[in-house]
Amino acid sequence: MAFPDGVADFRSDTVTRPTPEMRRAMAEAEVGDDSYGEDPTVNALQEESAAAVGKEAAVFVPSGTMGNQLAVNLQTRPGDEVLCTEWAHVRNYERGAAGALSGAAFRTVPGPGGVITPEEVAAALEWSGTRLPRVALLVWENTHNAAGGTVLPPDITAAATAVAREGGLAVHLDGARLFNAAVASGTPPAALAAEADTVMFCFSKGLGSPVGSVLCGSAELVAAARETRRRFGGNMRQAGVLAAAARWALRDWERLADDHALAGALAAALEARLPGTVMAVPETNMVQVAGERLPGGPEPFRAALAAAGVRVGYIRPGVLRFVTHRDVDAGDVARVAAVAGALGR
Ligand SMILES: Cc1ncc(COP(=O)(O)O)c(C=O)c1O
Repeated sequence: MAFPDGVADFRSDTVTRPTPEMRRAMAEAEVGDDSYGEDPTVNALQEESAAAVGKEAAVFVPSGTMGNQLAVNLQTRPGDEVLCTEWAHVRNYERGAAGALSGAAFRTVPGPGGVITPEEVAAALEWSGTRLPRVALLVWENTHNAAGGTVLPPDITAAATAVAREGGLAVHLDGARLFNAAVASGTPPAALAAEADTVMFCFSKGLGSPVGSVLCGSAELVAAARETRRRFGGNMRQAGVLAAAARWALRDWERLADDHALAGALAAALEARLPGTVMAVPETNMVQVAGERLPGGPEPFRAALAAAGVRVGYIRPGVLRFVTHRDVDAGDVARVAAVAGALGR
């Protein structure tokens, strides 16, 4: 189902527009001043969010970036390092916020599929805080966006987290798409978040809400996060109008399975028409296409799609990414297939 302007937008799952039900919930939301903790809709959302991921408390924030950066700020000191994958969102797509706002630097590992091994954690901890900067925080990303919406394997992440814990690291989970991981793996979100001190997840991605994310953790850490949120400019007032949409989205997460099925269909259609270009069978709602394997590189394909009213973007240099969500459907996949078919001929 393309947007009213006829465009099928596969650039991200952030492009969804609020449904009529969400808009109604927003219009009818009970509100108060959240700065005083008095917005009943925000309070309800925070309680529901914390419960969904098995944490004590949660704070509503305007963006996933703010949630991640609060987690970094509260669990590092200036000069510390954050251990994550080379292509982690927290390192690459947040405009250097960890350095700019918290004085934190990154220690990275290649992280294929978003995986950091126990051995890599152990290696990063050697000389940590003695001859080398202190590594203070491990950040997981599940699903891992730049790796192609991959779901982290629980056995390896549990083992790596155990090594991190022994070394005294705090653990943050960037769960912008945690519910996609939950649906794909058949594991409750709380189980996926169990090992983490803090978990951020977004209402504004596949869950389809127009704005908002949440940072969850212990009551003490979340109280501190509320203070730092103010410092970062994210203090809220009658945010219940936003929280109402988020609450609605949070009740509807099992529909993400439809997005995953559509991504599977899209990958199969592309692979049939442009063999060897799809980088992996999608695990969730993202399909990555290797630009250098397309006839003439990625730009002719992207331009032909644009001419057919289909938008896609790059997730990394040379890698085209299609993301499925509640505002694209099988008809839109057929449009992509037609363009791919013409190019592949
Ligand atoms: C894995 C991941 N983390 C964090 C974010 C940041 O979310 P926001 O765009 O709301 O700041 C994104 C956004 O796409 C993301 O993909």
